[in-house]
Amino acid sequence: MKNILIIGAQGQIGSELTCKLRKKYGVDNVVSGDLYPPPRGSKLADGPNEVLDITVAGTIYQVVKDHKIDTIYNLAALLSAVAEQRPQDAWNVGVNGMYNVLEVARETKCAVFTPSSIGSFGPTTPMDNTPQDTIQRPTTIYGVTKVTGELLCDYYYKRFGVDTRGLRYPGIISYVTLPGGGTTDYAVEIFYEAIKHRKFVCPLPKGAFLDMMYMADALDAAIDLMEADPAKLKHRNSFNVTAMSFDPEILANEIKKHMPDFEMTYDVDPVKEAIAATWPNSMDDSAAREEWGWNPKFELPEMTADMLEKVSEKLGIAYK
Ligand code: NAD
Ligand code: SER
Repeated sequence: MKNILIIGAQGQIGSELTCKLRKKYGVDNVVSGDLYPPPRGSKLADGPNEVLDITVAGTIYQVVKDHKIDTIYNLAALLSAVAEQRPQDAWNVGVNGMYNVLEVARETKCAVFTPSSIGSFGPTTPMDNTPQDTIQRPTTIYGVTKVTGELLCDYYYKRFGVDTRGLRYPGIISYVTLPGGGTTDYAVEIFYEAIKHRKFVCPLPKGAFLDMMYMADALDAAIDLMEADPAKLKHRNSFNVTAMSFDPEILANEIKKHMPDFEMTYDVDPVKEAIAATWPNSMDDSAAREEWGWNPKFELPEMTADMLEKVSEKLGIAYK
């Protein structure tokens, strides 16, 4: 029986991963952890939860001991755009926090899942069909923390035998919890604005191609990787995974198929534009497909149709 702790459980991914893991392993076996208690009445409040700060090793250790945790999903981070405003905090959470989790895992023999990102690549990385093993010289603090995390996790596996695993997620698109301040957030915001106002002002320019993935596939990827046969894993902490690649224009045109009067204009945010320009246009995820059977279910048309339906339901605004 697994006993799981999710750190950063109230974020875009954590809020849905916690519910999915509770369905799979039982509510009492999945502890949600974050800086604040879950809001009263929220789904996260329906199971065990703990207030903890990843930058304080003692609090992680105590929660792991109290709940007999054997697996930690470490989702705490400052996303790329916020991290550029608060680089010291980004390093503290992303690297010192990661180190704390690994030390607790080493002492208590926990397995650890940590997402890396398309942000771990940089301007000298091959941009198209970005290989699994390639140049990683990111120019953002977010990317620096992600590459450091990948290396630290590899080190703890090789040196101490800690069962560390991870994915390089692309931009994640979802409708439950809003994204936390990344460069790819526009691909979520566009749906809310389309449903509310039938128009959207895009902060990334035409031609800014980035990898993306629908949340259902992102959750499956994390769980499938953690359940994969370890003997088959060669790239434990840094699997490229993607489901689709588009620029704002392609996404807007897909929305127009459902909402012909939808209009998009541009007011480019120079910080986000500069970050996006250093990330891959599309990644090669064949290592994930070969080593643990990665196979996403949602491509652009299915994701767009589902997002429009779900955001429309959530806001109580019909879009057809
Ligand atoms: P998010 O910003 O939505 O959530 C992060 C959570 O971490 C928040 O609930 C926050 O309160 C918590 N947190 C921050 N500092 C903390 C601390 N000191 N101690 C404990 N908790 C703390 O992020 P997300 O989108 O859910 O991303 C989760 C992980 O996936 C991150 O590592 C992120 O880099 C990675 N990732 C996300 C995306 C994406 O598009 N969402 C893409 C690639 C990688
Ligand atoms: N969605 C994330 C960001 O834009 C990618 O890691 O920061």
